[in-house]
Amino acid sequence: MVTTSSSPALTVDVHLEARDLRAALERDVRSGLGAARKSLPPTWFYDEAGSKLFEEITELPEYYPTRAERALLGLYAADIASLTRSDTLVELGAGSCEKTRLLLDALARRGELGRYVPFDVSADFLRESAATLVREYDGLQVHAVVGDFLRHLDAIPGGGRRLVAFLGGTIGNLVPAQRVGFLAALRATMGPADHLLLGADLVKDAGRIVAAYDDSAGVTARFNRNVLNVVNRELDADFVVERFAHAVRWDPVARWIEMRLRSDRDQLVHVGALGLTVPFARDEELLTEISAKFTPSGIGRELARAGFVVERQWGAEEGEFLLTLAHPGPRR
Ligand code: AVJ
Repeated sequence: MVTTSSSPALTVDVHLEARDLRAALERDVRSGLGAARKSLPPTWFYDEAGSKLFEEITELPEYYPTRAERALLGLYAADIASLTRSDTLVELGAGSCEKTRLLLDALARRGELGRYVPFDVSADFLRESAATLVREYDGLQVHAVVGDFLRHLDAIPGGGRRLVAFLGGTIGNLVPAQRVGFLAALRATMGPADHLLLGADLVKDAGRIVAAYDDSAGVTARFNRNVLNVVNRELDADFVVERFAHAVRWDPVARWIEMRLRSDRDQLVHVGALGLTVPFARDEELLTEISAKFTPSGIGRELARAGFVVERQWGAEEGEFLLTLAHPGPRR
C-alpha cells in the first residue's frame, strides 16, 4: 500500500496499483470471454471515456435514477445528518461530487463534519475531486482510498461516527449472492456509531426501466460498446466495435436489466496480450452488466440478512428510487 500526502488535509491511500488492475482485467477477460455464456464485469466500463459517457447518461431524459436520488438527498440530507450525527462521510464508489456535497453540506451545518473518505477504483478521479473538496470545505480532512469495494473494505479508515454512503444504485450491479457477501463484509467493518446509507433503484414499469438503458440518443449504446475499446487498448485486442449491437432486456423474474453486446455476424476476435482467439457466432451475446431493481421491503430483508437494522427509508413520490438508512445491529 502506498500513501501520499500533498497537504496536511489530504491523504491518498492506494491499495490498487496499475498492475493489480491489469491482472484483474486479464483474469476477467480470460474467464469471461472463454466461457460458454460470455460476459464481462461492468467495472471495465469506466475508463476516462466511459466515465464521461456515464456522466452523459446521468443527464439523459430517460435516465431517471441520478435525478431521483439527487432529489431525495436534497429533501432528506438534513434528516440523515441529524439521525446519524456523523463526523465522517465515507463514500463507496465516490461518483459525482454533486451528491456528495448535499451530504457534506448537511453534516457541516451541524458543525460536526471532520472527515471525508472517498473510496473508488479510479485514482485520478479521486485525487482531483479530493483536492477540490479540501479547498472548498474549511477544516475538512480528506482521506481518499483507492481500492475495489469487493476486496478492500478493510482499508477504510476507522474512528469517529461514520456515515458510509453507497449511492447511485451500484448495489444493483451485484447478483444476489454477491450482494449478501458484500453487505455482510461491510457490516463487519462497521462499529455501533456508524451508519449505512444505501441508494437503490426501485422496480417500476418495465418500459421506463428499459428506456433508461436504451436511450434514444444512443449514449448508453456507446457506453456499453466502450468496454470493447478498453479491452482493445489494454489487452491489444481487435474487436470491431461497430459489429456489436447494444441490447437491453428486462428480466421480470430476477428483476434486473441486462445489457448485452450482440455480434452482428460470425467473427473471430483476437486478444493479443492473452494469446486468445475468441469466436462469436452471429447473434451471440456478451453480457456486460446487470442492474437489479428492488422493493423497499426487499432491500430491508437483504440488509437484515447481512446483520443491519433499517432505521428509515425514503422513496421518491412515484417510488422511483429509494434511500435506506441502516445501522449495524448487535454483533453476531
Ligand atoms: C452506475 C451501476 C448505477 O446500473 O444504472 C447506467 C450504470 N449502466 N446505464 C446503472 C449504467 C447503463 C448504472 N450504475
